[in-house]
Amino acid sequence: MSDFLSKVPERLKWWIEARFGMFIHWGLYAVPARGEWVMFFERIPKSEYAKLARKFNPKRFDADKWVALAKEAGMRYMVLTTRHHDGFCLWDSQVSDFTSVKAAAAKRDFIAEYVEACRRAGIRIGFYYSLLDWRWPEYWDGPSKNPEGWARFREYVHAQVRELMTNYGKIDILWYDGAWPYTAEDWQSQRLNRMVRNLQPNIIMNNRSGLPEDFETPEQHIQYFDRPWESCMTISEAWWGYHAGDKHLKSPLEIIRLLVRCVAGNGNLLLNVGPKADGSIPEAYARRLRAVGEWLKRNGESIYGAGAAPFRAAHLGQITAKKNKVYVHVFYWPGKEMCVAGIKNKVLRTYMLATKEVLSFKQRGDRLFIYGLPRRPPDPIDTVVVIELEGKPEAAPPSFWRQ
Ligand code: GLC
Repeated sequence: MSDFLSKVPERLKWWIEARFGMFIHWGLYAVPARGEWVMFFERIPKSEYAKLARKFNPKRFDADKWVALAKEAGMRYMVLTTRHHDGFCLWDSQVSDFTSVKAAAAKRDFIAEYVEACRRAGIRIGFYYSLLDWRWPEYWDGPSKNPEGWARFREYVHAQVRELMTNYGKIDILWYDGAWPYTAEDWQSQRLNRMVRNLQPNIIMNNRSGLPEDFETPEQHIQYFDRPWESCMTISEAWWGYHAGDKHLKSPLEIIRLLVRCVAGNGNLLLNVGPKADGSIPEAYARRLRAVGEWLKRNGESIYGAGAAPFRAAHLGQITAKKNKVYVHVFYWPGKEMCVAGIKNKVLRTYMLATKEVLSFKQRGDRLFIYGLPRRPPDPIDTVVVIELEGKPEAAPPSFWRQ
């Protein structure tokens, strides 16, 4: 794995340090509660779909609660769907009537409330925005069949991005989606993103406007890249927007191990929750997120600002590293002693991160033996053992077959 971290632009540093964020998919689709693609899969005519807006009056929406939960979970940034593929805007867009202010019973600018809550709590602010909009026939026709119509549609998209980048002060992340099946040229993404950078000089953008920009976005899986990347994943099995039938939730153990695997490959995890139509986040999600936050309180040092180590210990779990420390995330407890091999540096100290309990060790060549571990894992989710080294971690090439 290449060490791209030393070369990232300044504006990305906070995001790489942060490692863990909350994704929120929330919109009209929360009303039927069959996921954010319900309009498409049930082929709901747009006039019929628009009626959902009359029912959209989320009495329990409280942006401060969302933000508080993200913080309790140990997340350092949030990304909210300002508009998904169904075209419904959570802000007072001037170029659409289909907004939470004009069309919905709520008559509220949820983006404004979200931004203010994030600022109050000091959490970084992200906007998800879908380029495509199913309600525009011009989107379906595309640029070759209807060039004038496409140009009108594209200008609507650019105008919305301009509003989002102008009306809410400093925004930290622009998380595009839905460029398919068209190209960056069709969307004029270069012009679009130039405008974005003029309005928000320090913003970071993902790779879904058809241009690579700042980071990769593997979806529902983990994939390592030689440039900044973030895996986005749902807390439930499949759906991003609230789906009442999608009930299998990831456990704290699964979430923590996914996060560790991301960091061990120099990546971030953006974990999604879909709040209900009334604006509340289901308690079952919240419980799991709080448990993740508890673990991070004890072990966050091994996650925030950490990245890949030059050696591996797959027989134990995953390894993350920061400065002269290496964090062995033991998923598969080996019993009273453990061996980590391939370390070239001199080892100064070994201890358990959560309790700071010092452990004895011996180095034999590039093999490090750590002794005096309890028979059972102190933290069955992930016990972190710290190895403090002289200098930055360096790998020793394997040669055991010669000895
Ligand atoms: C996909 C889906 C979408 C979801 C997104 C999150 O592109 O269309 O519903 O918002 O991925 O990564």
